[in-house]
Amino acid sequence: MYLSVRPRRLRRNETLRRLTRETRVSVDNLVLPLFVREEAHGRKAITSMPGQYQWGLAEVADAAARAADAGIPAVLLFGIPAHKDAEGSSAWQRDSAVCRAVEAIKQRTPGLCVITDVCLCEYTDHGHCGLLYQNRDGAPDVDNDATVEVLAKEALAHADAGADIVAPSDMMDGRIGAIRDVLDTNGHGEVAIMAYSAKFASVFYGPFREAAESPPQFGDRRSYQMDPANGNEALREIALDIDEGADIVMVKPALCYLDILRRAADEFNIPLAAYNVSGEYAMVKAAAAQGWLDERRTVLELTTSILRAGASIIITYWAMDLAGWLRE
Ligand code: PBG
Repeated sequence: MYLSVRPRRLRRNETLRRLTRETRVSVDNLVLPLFVREEAHGRKAITSMPGQYQWGLAEVADAAARAADAGIPAVLLFGIPAHKDAEGSSAWQRDSAVCRAVEAIKQRTPGLCVITDVCLCEYTDHGHCGLLYQNRDGAPDVDNDATVEVLAKEALAHADAGADIVAPSDMMDGRIGAIRDVLDTNGHGEVAIMAYSAKFASVFYGPFREAAESPPQFGDRRSYQMDPANGNEALREIALDIDEGADIVMVKPALCYLDILRRAADEFNIPLAAYNVSGEYAMVKAAAAQGWLDERRTVLELTTSILRAGASIIITYWAMDLAGWLRE
């Protein structure tokens, strides 16, 4: 048989494969999420996310320093407050767990980029991402504009504490513009915004809600997070956030939404992040623990697929493992 075209020629050995490889995961692409409690010390394992912890303030600074030593450029902080109420008032206190963690990390590891999650779900006693009101149907729902005001206060507290990037994950309309305004009018023109722009109402956040102690106490998040069925709407959400001043836009979760990443990468010229979420982590961890999947190869393949789809920033609980694996 005569074949002039043989794609296998370039797959014969690792040298040829290395030469023709199109996508490479690097530690430079990674962001490590960290959960911080208000306690000064301690470390509490998160059962649904093996290998992940809720850290005390001293330990979170250690964990961040280890990330920087491993070459990871950024961490993303989530706060777990001691006190929750209907307004989520712990979220915007200047001495919140997140603000104190930002200070501790910046003092210890000034070169590390510190990103903070801006949302109310960890801080409200009802577990929703904003303030409640009664909507036109008479049902309890999240009040968009009142929530945006509170989120702006929270973002300002984080910026005052020294955050480099604030990352609103609430999905309220208009919050990027409002946060940009508040930052700029308070001397934080250099603080960037990473917008959770296309955040879908996903079952894959389940383990995170245990980690952050933030499950909604009634209903669900479908009146503010996006319908997983909608791709065009995701692009519209991203376009709105860019118009309002977002510096980085995000698609979340990552793996079921690679098509959205590809469309966003083709359509917009802005750094694109993907959040490899808790459920994606837990699934692989569970299969690996059973011996059904090789964790390292699985994670390398799935992070490669996220980059290939068009993201350049991957937020992943495997960041520390990946840093080690990529060094070998
Ligand atoms: C909300 C927030 C969530 C996640 C990040 N920010 C949870 C939610 O919307 O319910 C999920 C992250 C993950 O699952 O890893 N503050």
